[in-house]
Amino acid sequence: MARDRAAAFAPGRVNLIGEHTDYNGGLALPFSIAQGVTVRGQRSDEPCISAHAEDLDEHDRFALEDRSPARGWRAFVRGVVAELGAAGLAPGGARLQIGGDLPRGAGLSSSAALEVALCLTLTALRGRDGAELDRLQVAQLCSRVESEWVGARTGLLDQLASLFGEPDAALLIDFATLAIEPVPLRLGGWQLVVVDSGERHAHASSGYNERRSECEQASRLLGVRLLAEAQAEEVGRLAEPLRSRARHVLGESLRVEEAVAALRADDLQALAALLNASHASLRDCYEVSTPAMERTVRGLLEAGAAGARMIGGGFGGSALAAFAPGIEPPAGALYVRPGDGAHVLGD
Ligand code: GLA
Repeated sequence: MARDRAAAFAPGRVNLIGEHTDYNGGLALPFSIAQGVTVRGQRSDEPCISAHAEDLDEHDRFALEDRSPARGWRAFVRGVVAELGAAGLAPGGARLQIGGDLPRGAGLSSSAALEVALCLTLTALRGRDGAELDRLQVAQLCSRVESEWVGARTGLLDQLASLFGEPDAALLIDFATLAIEPVPLRLGGWQLVVVDSGERHAHASSGYNERRSECEQASRLLGVRLLAEAQAEEVGRLAEPLRSRARHVLGESLRVEEAVAALRADDLQALAALLNASHASLRDCYEVSTPAMERTVRGLLEAGAAGARMIGGGFGGSALAAFAPGIEPPAGALYVRPGDGAHVLGD
């Protein structure tokens, strides 16, 4: 039975470690945060979708069968509606209100949160709490929205973190198999904070797609399907910059394994050291940092962080830092800890 109203919340994410491993079939360790996007939907008898983005106070309105592209946040709404239609789950007419407390373009996955909240709300309006799609299918549908409608060939990291996140745990995701295992994150007085580099980023226009192509090229040359399957000894055969890109991918998956061991041993100091190693690799081998990001990470370490690194796709966005008990993070830092994964909200 279709519903008159439905709403859903989808959180942003922080990736503890495991950057640019998702589309290479490697490992990552993200968690969903408390901040996110909420979409409230109301069924309408008109055969169109109208949407209001509260933070920008902007509107969009389009006919249900309209497949014309759009820019900015509108591309996500149109893309989710179109991809649901293509999956045989075409939404009916609806008015959508988009709100939340997740900064855009700051590397906390506002895009994935928006896609997931839209998808859950629109499927919930069809009835049965969106049970027509399982969570992996929702993640895959949202990722198609990014590639087909927004032009960013992102992996599944952000969507899986938003959909499968749970309080008090990070998620060990193996992108070769899509197996997801919660790993308890006991902070024990440590604080994790995120600081915005002040540099906005958009995956579609940054060097993100270029990095992805470089990894595909490296995989072809090494004769593997996914770069994470390559043998470390073989990587030395590649010419630069492909050799460095591959070294980052293999090294970063190993660091994820070490980070999981550190969390299981409640060794946050070891985790912090891994954050520093990850940042150095992202800066020097993967070359996705920027001067503004370097200043941000340096500032966090000077403020007493035990470890800090850029998070997300790079070319701007936010840095994550770990502060030991008793050391105060700088003013204005956003405290983050694992929170609920995406869910349909009650009436
Ligand atoms: C962005 C993408 C993810 C992932 C990260 C880098 O957040 O959306 O799929 O590739 O960059 O780890």
